[in-house]
Amino acid sequence: VVNGYFGARLAEMVTRYGGEVRRVEAEWGRAIDARAVRAALEDGGADLVVVVHAETSTGVQNPVREIAAAARAHDALVLVDAVTSLGGMPLDVAAWDVDACYSGSQKCLGAPSGLAPIVFTPRALARRVPCRSFYLDLGLLQEYWVGRKYHHTIAATLVYALREALTIVEEEGLETRWARHERHHRVLTAGLEAFNIEVGAGMGPLAGKVWRVGLMGAGSVPSSILILLGALEHILRQTGHAVQPGAGTGAALEALG
Ligand SMILES: Cc1ncc(COP(=O)(O)O)c(C=O)c1O
Repeated sequence: VVNGYFGARLAEMVTRYGGEVRRVEAEWGRAIDARAVRAALEDGGADLVVVVHAETSTGVQNPVREIAAAARAHDALVLVDAVTSLGGMPLDVAAWDVDACYSGSQKCLGAPSGLAPIVFTPRALARRVPCRSFYLDLGLLQEYWVGRKYHHTIAATLVYALREALTIVEEEGLETRWARHERHHRVLTAGLEAFNIEVGAGMGPLAGKVWRVGLMGAGSVPSSILILLGALEHILRQTGHAVQPGAGTGAALEALG
């Protein structure tokens, strides 16, 4: 499923691993319609459906639950990239019946980069094949993490940092955290709309045309939004754009309530 840089990159990775890729595409900046995935599966099927939950390159959320249901109906496994979504928006791999899902420590979990939480269903593990990569060999990784048998040297400091970040997530409460990210998304959008600026991507075909603004984890706070909007207003006015003083910050403050 390709509607942004990270979806396109996944398609490239599958190709590099020797897979035959059929792309279901949507315009960058628009979510994929699960019916298009269903139609593609009806027309030839697939072993695996690969989808990015939150396409960081454009800020778009894809309907993973519906795409996973379409895949299940056609006996395809589902792999979800939840690098940006985990900790920032609802993600329920069990209820959505997702076969494999990975994330990153550095986005909405707010830990340092360098770790990738990952889960599999027994259904996915049953279809395991010998792995050419020593480092991604799940059998060896499982023996290492669960059986304590040497495989590689762990970055122990990162694990401690992730543990601390997860404690902070737990203290805030997952649902409160989701609501905070959603609310600040709306506040920023309200502020930018006051300047007639659309939030979007700055990668791939949209590079140089739009900016990306990251509001994740500890950075998803009103002060980040207000500083950004104030700075944008200053730049826009300096470069000769007719902007009402306080237009963006005013709209954001109103949205904050
Ligand atoms: C949706 C998505 N997938 C994958 C990645 C790649 O993560 P990393 O840079 O940690 O390899 C990113 C990074 O921004 C991402 O946003």
